[in-house]
Amino acid sequence: MLLLDIIHLKTQFPTQDGMVKAVDTVDLQIAEGERIGLIGETGCGKTVLGMSIVRLLQPSTTIEGRILYRGRDILQLNDEEMRRLRGKEISMILQNPTTSLNPVLKIGDQIAEAIQLHQKLGKREAKSKAVEMLESVNIPDAQRRADQYPHELSGGMKERVMIAMGLACDPSFVVADEPTKGLDAKTKMQIIDLLREATAHKSLLMITHDLGVAQAICDRIAVMYAGELLEDASSRLILEEPIHPYMQGFINSLPSRGLMPIPGTSPSLIAPPPGCRFHPRCSRATKICERRHPEMVEVEKGHYVRCLLCA
Ligand SMILES: Nc1ncnc2c1ncn2[C@@H]1O[C@H](COP(=O)(O)OP(=O)(O)OP(=O)(O)O)[C@@H](O)[C@H]1O
Ligand SMILES: [Mg+2]
Repeated sequence: MLLLDIIHLKTQFPTQDGMVKAVDTVDLQIAEGERIGLIGETGCGKTVLGMSIVRLLQPSTTIEGRILYRGRDILQLNDEEMRRLRGKEISMILQNPTTSLNPVLKIGDQIAEAIQLHQKLGKREAKSKAVEMLESVNIPDAQRRADQYPHELSGGMKERVMIAMGLACDPSFVVADEPTKGLDAKTKMQIIDLLREATAHKSLLMITHDLGVAQAICDRIAVMYAGELLEDASSRLILEEPIHPYMQGFINSLPSRGLMPIPGTSPSLIAPPPGCRFHPRCSRATKICERRHPEMVEVEKGHYVRCLLCA
């Protein structure tokens, strides 16, 4: 069953130089229990897409389109309805624990606060639930750790705290934003295992640069470029038979494939290139790619690609 149905989502920021079209007409469906990886270069709009779903963007942001959660449009909810939904039904594990955690609040109290926003629990009960949550994300000596401040924890521990906070109210849908960034290889593996177990019966949108991480956890992978999705398929198809030249380039840029970076840089999101947004960097681009903007097309069952040459 469909849990989340994102329809023609457009998220833009007004700036002095013009509108930054961070998410530009994204369509994405997430089924109940499905785990999707969202990958793409820095600045392509991954975090903004996640923040649009949980509606944590500043008020000046313009959001168009629809985000149906169990058939209800999240974008039409008032602040109170949104607060009730956030955390309890949908939640986001924010990118960068160091800046997302409150440095002057003990971690146990931060988790307890998140719990109390949604569950009618007394302070003491919420605190003991927070300790339980810390245990559930495998933080040793959780009782003592709960009374520590974020700076007393390692990077891996802080990420565990972020995950504990995101899962505290047992949401059905979780956005996890770069949960393994900056972690050493061993800690990264532990966080992957933790996330895989903790979201086994949930729907997940996992934002990452790391294809290996997406593959380890996700059933499906969606590829984002300059605010749009370019390819969307099962993890196996995307990794073994990528079709879009950008995705092929992305895979060739992995260390295991010889670190061949895609030439050029990501385009401006204020004035993206006409035609296919990837054409200035695409070795296969033809005249038509400069003019015509490709639609997302299902090229084989469950494999969607936005490329005029591949349709
Ligand atoms: N509040 C804002 N005002 C203006 N532009 C913004 C704002 N927030 C994000 N952007 C721009 O939107 C684009 C998408 O940003 P986003 O943070 O979603 O990228 P990302 O894909 O998550 O990158 P990374 O992988 O580095 O985290 C970027 O060009 C960014 O500069
Ligand atoms: Mg980001």
